[in-house]
Amino acid sequence: MNPEAKLDASQLDRNNIPQSIAIIMDGNGRWAQERGLPRSAGHIQGVENVTRITSECARLGVKFLTMYTFSTENWNRPEAEVNTLMQLVADKLEDEIFMKNDVRFRYIGDIERLPAPARQRVLDCMEHTKNNKRMTAVTALNYSSRWELTKAMRDAVIEAQAGRLKPEDINEEYISQHLETNFMTDPDLLIRTGGELRISNYLLWQCAYSEFYFCDTFWPDFHEEDLHKAIAAYQQRQRRFGMTGEQVTKG
Ligand code: IPE
Ligand code: IPE
Ligand code: MG
Repeated sequence: MNPEAKLDASQLDRNNIPQSIAIIMDGNGRWAQERGLPRSAGHIQGVENVTRITSECARLGVKFLTMYTFSTENWNRPEAEVNTLMQLVADKLEDEIFMKNDVRFRYIGDIERLPAPARQRVLDCMEHTKNNKRMTAVTALNYSSRWELTKAMRDAVIEAQAGRLKPEDINEEYISQHLETNFMTDPDLLIRTGGELRISNYLLWQCAYSEFYFCDTFWPDFHEEDLHKAIAAYQQRQRRFGMTGEQVTKG
């Protein structure tokens, strides 16, 4: 398959759709700057695109879509930009898109630090969509992997001090179950838009065996055909999990 060609979904192998996709939605600011617009315009377009990609993932049969919305490091941005982002969560996170697509909404991250309207909108949206079944859309809000792992370790020490946890109780399963993502499967595919080749403190534990896909397209321009391209690239990979290629082919 020519990776440059435009792809429609019919060219994808429907039996090999990544069940869990994580996205680092990067490039909103540069998208706006290129057009002489304020960065906030990029974030607004970015939100529009979340709707587009969420619907398409649900349609394709993805089960978990985990989108990086605001990292713990993003508090370091100018106050006005942080406020814009928080306002967008409060105003633009709507139940409708999730209800229409039978999608359950969840969050990961420490939402306690969010301004009350944003926090309340997140909680309400989660409550209203909790019985939807087709896909789970997860937003990472005030999230970072190091924060999450630090918290898990601290919680484990508290349990151990209370006599409820022994060293031999701690295994990979225990750790996975004590991370924010304990309701979902690890990403099969991690996509980062916007051209940077880094993971920016996202899902470090969970991406241990994910396939990575980086593209230069800014997030507001990453539309259905770009998603198809990413999935097509994923479908060309052989996931070996430490085995030899021959072992994998023979099943
Ligand atoms: C991603 O776009 C959105 C957030 C981090 C909230 P950016 O705002 O990082 O856009 P660039 O990287 O500056 O272009
Ligand atoms: C990562 O993007 C965080 C989100 C997409 C929410 P950033 O734009 O904040 O990442 P860095 O700081 O350039 O690595
Ligand atoms: Mg960025």
